[in-house]
Amino acid sequence: MQEVRLGVNVDHVATLRQARGTSYPDPVTAAALAESGGADQITIHLREDRRHIQERDLRILRETVQTRLNLEMAATKEMSKIAYEFKPDMVTLVPEKREELTTEGGLDVAMKRDAIKDMVRFLKDGDIKVSLFIDPDIDQIRAAHKVNADAVELHTGSYCEAKNESIVKQEYGRLVDAAKTCAKIGLPVYAGHGLNLQNLAPVAALKEITEFNIGHSIVGRAIYVGMVEAVREMKAAILRARQGALQE
Ligand code: PXP
Repeated sequence: MQEVRLGVNVDHVATLRQARGTSYPDPVTAAALAESGGADQITIHLREDRRHIQERDLRILRETVQTRLNLEMAATKEMSKIAYEFKPDMVTLVPEKREELTTEGGLDVAMKRDAIKDMVRFLKDGDIKVSLFIDPDIDQIRAAHKVNADAVELHTGSYCEAKNESIVKQEYGRLVDAAKTCAKIGLPVYAGHGLNLQNLAPVAALKEITEFNIGHSIVGRAIYVGMVEAVREMKAAILRARQGALQE
């Protein structure tokens, strides 16, 4: 079967730690357990306001992660320098607003093409792969391709948060079209944001998508069943959906 990766985002383990300013729970421990449960990648978002993940986490995870480390970050010079120093396997450039609860909407690559192109080149020179977190929009995909991104991650938030069946259908259609466009132009395509055991299957069935980055629902589920089991469940759900689609 074609490769499909699960990136486990451990930001919200750090959210709980930062809520009390304690040294626990530690996202480093969570990452090791996630890998035991079958995570193919550990994803962290080092936000400019450092509200959850800290530089200390990035430094230790760079040493301890056995799979791949994906650093989500804002497209700024300060963050590029940090990435260049710590050398994650991949950087995912995301838009960032201080007042937002979580990442809202994708990066506007089409609008900021020159600046993003320079940043992509700088990071790739440092031997770091670069993915761009974008809305499932054909113009954004074309722009991402033009700035030489290694991959794009499609923002699944609008699909996951859709309030009725007709919007779900419409948003899912956008993901399908975007995934197919990426495949056509040879741009690796990933997906993430808001995915959980209830809404994942149709997206995981899209064979063009080769990586999923999932955090909040896994960390939430881990409270009840533990991190290893929560990751196992999610990985099994992805593989089930993928196998089902291939048999059709
Ligand atoms: N991918 C990207 C680029 C993100 O910014 C996030 C949220 O940090 C995720 C995936 C994971 O989203 P969630 O926590 O909703 O699963």
